Amino acid sequence: MKRLSIFTALALLVPHAFGIGQQSCVSFKSDPSGFAVVSGRRAAPVLISEDDWPGVQRAAADFVADIQRVTGVKPTFKNATSANAAQGGGSGSLPIIIGTLGKSSLIDQVVNATKLDVSSLTGKWESYLSKRVENPLPGVSNAYVIIGSDKRGSIYALYDHSEQFGVSPWYWWADVPVTTQSNLFVSASGCSHGEPTVKYRGIFINDEQPALQNWAQEKFTNGTGAPFNHFFYSNVFELILRLRGNYLWPAMWAGKFGVDDLLNQFTADYYGVVMGTSHQEPMMRSTPNEFTGLGKWDYTTNKEAIKKYLKEGVERSKNFESVYTMGMRGFGDLPLSEDTNIQLMEGVIADQTQILKDVFQVGDVSGIPQVWALYKEVEDYYVHGLTVPDYVTLLWSDDNWGNIRGFLPPDKRNRTGGAGVYYHFDYVGDPRNFKWIISTQLQKVHEQLSIAVERASTRLWIVNIGDLKPYEREIEFFLGYGYNATRWTPNNINEYVTSWAQREFDVDAPTAGTINSIVANLTRYNSRRHPELWNATTYSLVNYREAETVLADWKSLEAASTKIYNSLPQSYKAAFFQLVHHPVIASANLQAIYVNAGWNNLRAVQARLSTNELAETVQKLFEVDYDIETQYHQLLNGKWNHIMDQTHVSYDYWQQPMQNSMPPITKVQARKQALPGVMRIAPEYTLGAWPGDNRNNCKDGYNCPDPTLSLNNFDNFNNRYVDVGAAGPNPFTFTVAANASWVRLSTSKGSISTKNTEQRVFLGVADWSQLSDGVNAALVTFTATSSKFPVSVVNVNFVATKNAVPAGFKGFVESQGVVSVEAAHHQRNTPVSDIAWTELPGLGKTLSGLTPLPRSAQSFEIGAGPSVEYDFLNFNTIGGSGNLTATFLLSPSLNAATDEKPLAFSVSLDGAAPIRIQPVPASSRKSDPPGWGTINGWVANAINKQTVLFTGIAPGKHTLKVSMMEPAVVLQKIVIDAGGIMESYLGPPESKIV
Ligand SMILES: *[C@@H]1O[C@H](CO)[C@@H](O)[C@H](O)[C@H]1NC(C)=O
Ligand SMILES: *[C@@H]1O[C@H](CO)[C@@H](O)[C@H](O)[C@H]1NC(C)=O
Repeated sequence: MKRLSIFTALALLVPHAFGIGQQSCVSFKSDPSGFAVVSGRRAAPVLISEDDWPGVQRAAADFVADIQRVTGVKPTFKNATSANAAQGGGSGSLPIIIGTLGKSSLIDQVVNATKLDVSSLTGKWESYLSKRVENPLPGVSNAYVIIGSDKRGSIYALYDHSEQFGVSPWYWWADVPVTTQSNLFVSASGCSHGEPTVKYRGIFINDEQPALQNWAQEKFTNGTGAPFNHFFYSNVFELILRLRGNYLWPAMWAGKFGVDDLLNQFTADYYGVVMGTSHQEPMMRSTPNEFTGLGKWDYTTNKEAIKKYLKEGVERSKNFESVYTMGMRGFGDLPLSEDTNIQLMEGVIADQTQILKDVFQVGDVSGIPQVWALYKEVEDYYVHGLTVPDYVTLLWSDDNWGNIRGFLPPDKRNRTGGAGVYYHFDYVGDPRNFKWIISTQLQKVHEQLSIAVERASTRLWIVNIGDLKPYEREIEFFLGYGYNATRWTPNNINEYVTSWAQREFDVDAPTAGTINSIVANLTRYNSRRHPELWNATTYSLVNYREAETVLADWKSLEAASTKIYNSLPQSYKAAFFQLVHHPVIASANLQAIYVNAGWNNLRAVQARLSTNELAETVQKLFEVDYDIETQYHQLLNGKWNHIMDQTHVSYDYWQQPMQNSMPPITKVQARKQALPGVMRIAPEYTLGAWPGDNRNNCKDGYNCPDPTLSLNNFDNFNNRYVDVGAAGPNPFTFTVAANASWVRLSTSKGSISTKNTEQRVFLGVADWSQLSDGVNAALVTFTATSSKFPVSVVNVNFVATKNAVPAGFKGFVESQGVVSVEAAHHQRNTPVSDIAWTELPGLGKTLSGLTPLPRSAQSFEIGAGPSVEYDFLNFNTIGGSGNLTATFLLSPSLNAATDEKPLAFSVSLDGAAPIRIQPVPASSRKSDPPGWGTINGWVANAINKQTVLFTGIAPGKHTLKVSMMEPAVVLQKIVIDAGGIMESYLGPPESKIV
């Protein structure tokens, strides 16, 4: 038996510090080599310098409060000088000394006295170090120093320690409890962090109506006045800093940041948050809300008034740290005008530059942070030669749906202003809003932002976070990844979420693992299609058991979440509800509303009495939707009242409905007998029902043949079902009998009544080995007997096809005329120049994504790139024609590199000449590419499907090869149609591999 070393044994016992992946310097157990923050109910005094930044003073007060939150012991907190530091803590306690290099005279003295190496901080942006030092000040033998390179360097250092002590950045915004400790130690070597990957990392509170605004109105005003005042924003600023962000675009829908509360701008600067305004609001003014009574927002006819207005914006903010949004858009986020041209735009920028010169009284404005959003038409101007001063940061947007539209071309990447990314977790506009609940995968965010890092879009990142609340984890990931992009890779996003779960809920590792899988599934299901786009037939009601599987998956997610919710101590329930449980149960319930409505509508057409039960189910679930919302609003005595006000049921165009409305449901006349008799027979894979006529029973919808169900020995489900249902009020008994002994029936009889309106009968094959190769046909007869009506009989043809696999074949086997393949399940993977198709675990609709990594600028000639190969076996071709199609299901990424290098890859079957696929057609940057929009376009469907036809193909073994041409293609799944493909949202489930 292997003996645990004493250190391992200790490590198992010692509770770990909290945090998400950062360097750890905190422990809760006495450590002789460490430094005691709190030990034996005594806290180290905290010393700071009077001349440090007020924002650092303020964060240090949070730090002191956090120590008290964790230990119950309040440290002494004082301004000190080198002369009086020794008296700071009284009776020999060793102090914690906090300060900003070059700003805090106390810290400068410590550095001077200790000869501490601060070269990692000098002249650096937002960096820090902390460690134990000897003899830092006269009479102080020993101290723990926390030193920032600048204001936010110090603030992040303090909050990093607070987080590791056990105070979540979300302690207020999501009510995450503090785990209490008796002792707090920091290691002698401390923690440190260099410059962040991205210089400005921010959030954009947007489309904040109804939820955030109604909530803020109730919580931060006395019923009158602007909801987004400095009381509200103080909470936002603290959160941003605790999350290592530094930048904010304020609420702009009804808000006027600089006017609503004259303390707003001051408070931001005091806290240390850099303010900006959105892409459509130039020069720190809230446009259009502030632009009233000044004439038309038209630079060709009203230039002087607009210039004056913009100048006031700069004057108002010149004493506060800001990033100025340059350029101009029309009202309502629309292009300025049809004939707006490059010259006019350049004129606007020139005038804005002059305003900056005048107000700041400088000749050179390159030191004033400025950003220009290349939004649609402006991006087009830029591509067509619009000149932008080198020091202005160019901000590329995503397509509002999480796919970044552009990056600097390689030869422009060293421009001094750099470039940035404007991203969306929340969106209002075409083809549909998404603003209710989390519907973004971290895996996708990572995939897109990692490209931004590689392509030098790292000057400024901003994410539209709607109402803030339902996107807590994702906001933190966005800001944290911008803070240190080297820490997170496609392979450790699970670690991110498990660490997050441990920090938020103080759970053990296995529970954190379960929470990670709940979050992964929740965000996967909601990003397959934003819930605002769901309807009763999103998922197939009859093919591939799709709707049933989706509902069952939601149910097990709900069960897993409920189990954890119930097991958590009371004090953790509110946080878990907000961060995990609410989105799970609310989304699961909404999905159930739609699927049950779909079945209700279908069964009415099928003349099934169970239609009515489904109508009741939908009505009940529709009420549950409001119950779940209410449960959120009643948490913690109404702390979050209104935060889930967002309507979300039954959108009928891009804009939110003004009220939730139940999807249409219908009923059958329960007291009336359907025309064809007492029994309804509804097999899967058809919308039809027997006996009698139904438009779906056959092409004519009249005198149709008996239904047929097919099964083969490589089927995913190994059986087929037939629903036997009541057609009206009259009870009956039924028998099921097959005319062949190989047919396995799940039951041979049953009884149906108004109390038991449906029974599902499964048809299978008793023993495939006993069947002969090829087609085996049987007749399964359903016979209904009732007291008042004639016997009703329906025959179902059951065809079992036994397919043989040639000896030695390894790969995917066709079933029902389809081969469906998860991209990650290739049979061979051949790198070229050390680039290989690599799995992005968890990304996408069903399993994962596959993309060539590392992404370099390298492109490959057709067929020459890194490749993956899929071996498959088909027994059919489309209609026996010798044709097959292969449909490639790709993440809906855009041609973001350059116009000359659109996304592309090639495919080849059995070594034939490769075929180039360009998933996104070339298009003007003014607009979205063809195929992108509408509620059935790529972004709504969250998939870009590209289909290739192969001709002259015989049944048998084949190899499909996919080769890289350009980086950043993400392949999720491949569906090969050999003549049997059926309608579904996710595509057929993956074929069996032998
Ligand atoms: C330190 O001095 C500053 C400036 O006078 C003051 O604002 C702050 O409250 C003082 N801090 C403490 C901990 O007393
Ligand atoms: C730095 O320390 C030296 C002694 O080591 C002392 O002479 C000098 O005055 C100190 N400078 C500052 C700025 O404290």
